[in-house]
Amino acid sequence: MPVGTQGAVKAVLQNQLEEIDAKIILANTYHLFLRPGDELIKSAGGLHKFINWNRPILTDSGGFQVYSLADIRKITDEGVHFSSHLDGSKHFITPERCIDIQNNLGADIIMQFDECTPYGADLEQSISAMNRTLRWLDRCFKHHKNENQILFPIVQGNVFKDLRLTSLKETLPYAKCGFGIGGLSVGEPKKTMYEILDFMYPNYPADKARYLMGVGSPDCLIEGVYRGIDMFDCVLATRIARNGTAFTSKGKVVVKNSVYKEDFSKLDDECDCYTCKNYTKSYLRHLINAGEISGGILLSIHNLRYLIKLMKNMREAIINGETLRSLERNFIKL
Ligand code: GUN
Ligand code: ZN
Repeated sequence: MPVGTQGAVKAVLQNQLEEIDAKIILANTYHLFLRPGDELIKSAGGLHKFINWNRPILTDSGGFQVYSLADIRKITDEGVHFSSHLDGSKHFITPERCIDIQNNLGADIIMQFDECTPYGADLEQSISAMNRTLRWLDRCFKHHKNENQILFPIVQGNVFKDLRLTSLKETLPYAKCGFGIGGLSVGEPKKTMYEILDFMYPNYPADKARYLMGVGSPDCLIEGVYRGIDMFDCVLATRIARNGTAFTSKGKVVVKNSVYKEDFSKLDDECDCYTCKNYTKSYLRHLINAGEISGGILLSIHNLRYLIKLMKNMREAIINGETLRSLERNFIKL
């Protein structure tokens, strides 16, 4: 899922998202609640209409952003008191309020309000956050009445395998269509994340989508799919694009580098995106170095297309009974 935190994928327009075959985008409850406000979006006819996007949208609950962005005043079982990172205004979000806000936004998939612990949190802290996440899950489900929106629970448990298993087992009865796996890719080594995914894997039901939240890079997508993950979201692709870095079938290309000054070849010969069909590395390098916004636009389109194509190739490999390891060799040079 391309990330459109504020109801816009940075530097990419909705028609361009359709062109690269983005099937769903993510938006953030925390940001849209603070600005322009969920009531305003509701009165505009909901998020799809407000942003002119007719395909699915998933909203993250804010249960992560509130910890990473806001100035937290107090977390209790009732909810989270915080001040806005924008203007310092004070707010109180409960699981019920989070569902109300996401109902107003009107995304197709909404996420439970959760408590995500940072990497390095001790066992006691991780148990407390996991149990609070489970209590909040029950409140979210009891409060959620809109049948047009699927509510995904979120598995927590930090890096503790037994907690992950408890969280998964307690969470699954609430997973109607799919569930999120949170609290990973928060600074732990990749190997640690893979070990946790390996450990949980035998316990996933076959018929529920598994969404690894906040991941990731091309290698993490492959390693994640290898461990049974279906859905991902990450700002990485568009963030590094605006900085002048591209994912390609030959590895990462930092177009700013002087080696590309007179390189009139395509960014990636294997890519079918608008950028690769029409522009050279030399021109893209010039745009990025000159600070032209079209540089960020063209690289963002390319990076998103790269990830969408990578996921498509993996889906096809699975359907055709090929191994993902052979695909890894074919599609990505790390
Ligand atoms: N995005 C990345 N990780 C998380 C998480 O643990 N919880 C939520 N709500 N969103 C996330
Ligand atoms: Zn491309």
